[in-house]
Amino acid sequence: MDSYAVFGHPIDHSLSPRIHALFAEETAQQIEYTRREPPLDGLAEAIAAFRAEGAHGANITVPFKEQAWALADQRSDRAERAGAVNTLIFGESVYADNTDGEGLINDLRNNLGVGLAGKRILLIGAGGAAGGVLMSLLDENPATLVIANRTPERAQTLARAFADAGSIEGCGLDDLSGERFEVVINATSSGLEGDVPDLPASIVGDGATAFDMLYGAEPTPFLRWAEANGAYRIRDGLGMLVEQAAGAFELWRRIRPSTAPVIETLRNDTR
Ligand code: ATR
Repeated sequence: MDSYAVFGHPIDHSLSPRIHALFAEETAQQIEYTRREPPLDGLAEAIAAFRAEGAHGANITVPFKEQAWALADQRSDRAERAGAVNTLIFGESVYADNTDGEGLINDLRNNLGVGLAGKRILLIGAGGAAGGVLMSLLDENPATLVIANRTPERAQTLARAFADAGSIEGCGLDDLSGERFEVVINATSSGLEGDVPDLPASIVGDGATAFDMLYGAEPTPFLRWAEANGAYRIRDGLGMLVEQAAGAFELWRRIRPSTAPVIETLRNDTR
């Protein structure tokens, strides 16, 4: 049976094995998909050992996406630019791709009916999660893409790196005072500590769509904040997780699984 795994640290709670098992069932693919938790400095060895077992591919999650980018032999254009990868394909060499941005866009467009063309978009955060989706956001041709971060310099550096690809600017959270956006995406890790970035209410107050890349059984702290401050609709990262998984599954198996029933099943699991 063709073998795949998700590599992360920690990895216990990863939903990826469940998602890929549901995809495999629907598309009648015979695959095995497990979780692996290498030591923080042991990704390269763990991937090499997995390949030696005859594995076909891997997903990569926090905190290994940048390391996996570095150890790949070849990368897709979108992965090259993101500086981080979530999908590896094993052949003679290791090919890396990044389906996170595609996952975000597909969830917004196909599952939520939110297109980004011509819109004012705010991306909060300037770490790996933000960098991984930037190119996909710019590819949708928004009117403006603002990246705001607690440490403004990181947002400005990221904006400069993508300046040739569209209308993009980087700033600090304070600089958002009085600004309004149609779509606000939280790519910070603040919610993991139950925290919300220090944001002005104006950014969602005009009936924005608020999106958090994190997910959980309850709305995330950022989504609760957004709803209380006038967001028109909120969406957590569960749909994006399933959509990025579908992108990886299609790269490996050359067949596109349906995502909506899987998102529904996972929502019911966590209820
Ligand atoms: P990831 O790979 O999840 O993006 P990261 O590279 O460590 O992780 O980046 C974390 C992001 O969350 C950063 O943008 C960080 O802001 P700083 O660059 O100022 O550190 C942001 N972040 C984390 N906790 C936060 C908080 N409590 N409030 C605001 N931003 C926060």
